[in-house]
Amino acid sequence: MTDRYAVIGNPIAFSKSPLIHSSFAQATGQDLDYSKIEGPLGQFAATVDAFRAQGGRGLNITAPFKLDAFAYATEHSPAAQLAGAANAMKFDGERVLAENFDGVGLVRDVVHNLAQPLRGKRVLVLGAGGAARGALLPFLAEQPTELVIANRSLDKAQDLARIGTAQGPVRACSLQDLQGRHFDLVFNATSASLRAELPTVPVSVFAECALAYELAYGKGLTPFLRLAQGAGVPQLADGVGMLAEQAAEAFAWWRGVRPQTRAVIERLTVPLV
Ligand code: ATR
Repeated sequence: MTDRYAVIGNPIAFSKSPLIHSSFAQATGQDLDYSKIEGPLGQFAATVDAFRAQGGRGLNITAPFKLDAFAYATEHSPAAQLAGAANAMKFDGERVLAENFDGVGLVRDVVHNLAQPLRGKRVLVLGAGGAARGALLPFLAEQPTELVIANRSLDKAQDLARIGTAQGPVRACSLQDLQGRHFDLVFNATSASLRAELPTVPVSVFAECALAYELAYGKGLTPFLRLAQGAGVPQLADGVGMLAEQAAEAFAWWRGVRPQTRAVIERLTVPLV
């Protein structure tokens, strides 16, 4: 019987996951079926139970169910544990394993696809929500000289930085505190771009910046990227590579074979204009 996988979210119509995983399956010769499930709100567990009863082997999880998925799982990876949220699950009999590949997917995109090592670099992350949380430990593992988490609400940045202090040189500050500071790599992990808003970041952060990276995908030239472009940042990127790489991690976890991501990234790239 063909193994079944799916992405669950609400809404789910625009999810690229079925396209990505079908491409991976075809390229690696894996026999699997990957669909999308619009999960009724408040019925996550019942929906997943039904999917498992029909032979479901694994799920990707997107908004608003990442916390429900964490709660549903019986075992959690360190990345899922830190995030308190899961973006992938694997079913093994009664066992439900939870993973979170967002951070590792981001690092792989930056270091491997965009050829920007984080090692020895001054790294700035804007935002201290779920997206920034996922990036924290994978970033520190790359050994930057410093990792600054800047957030509109300082207390959230401080809470997050505290989690990473044993792992590397991480510091919290407010967006205003960034005045006059320079960074080599700047990441926008706020949700501002989803509403075409700009986090109030001083343009000086881009003075010596080699890469400005918008974690959101498919929004074109967001206000953040536009600011970076105007400041002369030579390389701009959005989250398309992160999306493909976290999917490849999940695929490898489920199937034991890691697909190439280049073709999927090319297919899904939305021009930054
Ligand atoms: P996600 O899971 O996408 O990270 P989240 O957990 O709701 O979403 O976090 C959103 C992040 O974007 C927060 O860091 C938020 O800042 P606050 O903690 O101060 O709320 C940040 N954010 C959202 N809109 C913003 C804006 N217009 N300017 C600056 N930061 C913004």
